[in-house]
Amino acid sequence: MGAGSGVPGSVTAEGVAATEVVACVVDVIDDETASSLPTPGLPTPLLAAPLLPLSSLHATSSNAHHGTASSLRAGDRRRPAILLDSAAHNTPASVTVASSAYMSPTPLPIILDCDPGHDDAIAIVVAAHHTNLLGITTVAGNAPLDATTSNAIIVRDLLGLECPVHSGANRPLTRPARHAGYVHGESGMDGADLPPPSGPPASHDAVGYIIEACRAREGIWLVPTGPLTNIALALRAAPDLAGRLGGISLMGGGTFGNRTAAAEFNLWCDPEAADMVFTYGGPLIMSGLDLTHQFQALPQRIEAVRALPGHLAAVLADLFDFFSSTYRARHHHIAGAPVHDPCAVMALTHPHLFTRRLAHVEIETRGRLTAGMTVIDQRDLKEVPDANCDVLTGIDADAAWDVVVAAIASGGAPSALP
Ligand code: BDR
Ligand code: CA
Repeated sequence: MGAGSGVPGSVTAEGVAATEVVACVVDVIDDETASSLPTPGLPTPLLAAPLLPLSSLHATSSNAHHGTASSLRAGDRRRPAILLDSAAHNTPASVTVASSAYMSPTPLPIILDCDPGHDDAIAIVVAAHHTNLLGITTVAGNAPLDATTSNAIIVRDLLGLECPVHSGANRPLTRPARHAGYVHGESGMDGADLPPPSGPPASHDAVGYIIEACRAREGIWLVPTGPLTNIALALRAAPDLAGRLGGISLMGGGTFGNRTAAAEFNLWCDPEAADMVFTYGGPLIMSGLDLTHQFQALPQRIEAVRALPGHLAAVLADLFDFFSSTYRARHHHIAGAPVHDPCAVMALTHPHLFTRRLAHVEIETRGRLTAGMTVIDQRDLKEVPDANCDVLTGIDADAAWDVVVAAIASGGAPSALP
């Protein structure tokens, strides 16, 4: 199969695996789009994964809350300062805030699924310091997969981390890959003098890695900060994961868009994957644009990073400068780049820095103008569907920046336990 023919009905092992996995989920691809698709780079273990109907995903995930609660270990303690917006009314007892209201006495085990990306790099830094970062998985998004994988390895190396980097999907489930060079540069992390990666990724099977890791250990949080393709494929191939995860804390969505008027970039890239994630049934925390635009790399904040000693801080300050310069060049009124992605990490590690509301959120997959939009049900009606998402609405930006600065200053060393 040559490049450009990765479409439903293609015949290679990889192509069949990819298209079979997604075929029963959505069928929106048209001939023109299909002819422009690159060869899918989806993981071979999916060949062996049972292709269960979507109903089984929902059936399994209906137990997810119980799985989450039971995965909290003895000694876990309730973190007191969870702030709920006064508007958060339709709040059934089982919804996700319970999960973020707990904090383990040991760092939370997470897998960071990312597309570095300047702000993804910062998410890795914060995760290295404040979580038990089991692994990093990469997806096509801000840049092509090769570049996002290389960037993730470079950041991992700069931090001196041991954790593996596994590369994943090189395009969305049913749509062509689209990137964000206009924000992140062609490399995905333009603006700094970066070393080459120390080696190749641990595997090209991010989805298999996620499934294996989450089956080996209960209570892992997935933290996606790019298009949701890998996460959707993992949930689709292994429906049991929904009841085993701690939850999913993602960056994406919002009441306004950045790639279109309605859609944020990560969800706009792969709305079908986002739909699968938002209906998976377990704890879900959303750091959308409403939140992340409150957390900007202002000049004085970048200077606080540059003032830190060491190579890592200098590199990251250069990255912040580039990131902010593209944002300022493209916006009428913005003082610095919104530092989106670490919010999805800090939502877990520093939940007291956020306000939130619980809401029912669905993903628009078909709208001509709205594909990828998060439709957040804010109606004050008793009949609205139960909340499925912990929507973060506000952040103590100065305190959160201090968290970022401390993580950079640590050079990636684990923080002292709370
Ligand atoms: C998201 O898209 C990317 O540009 C960033 O890395 C972030 O994940 C913001 O819309
Ligand atoms: Ca990202």
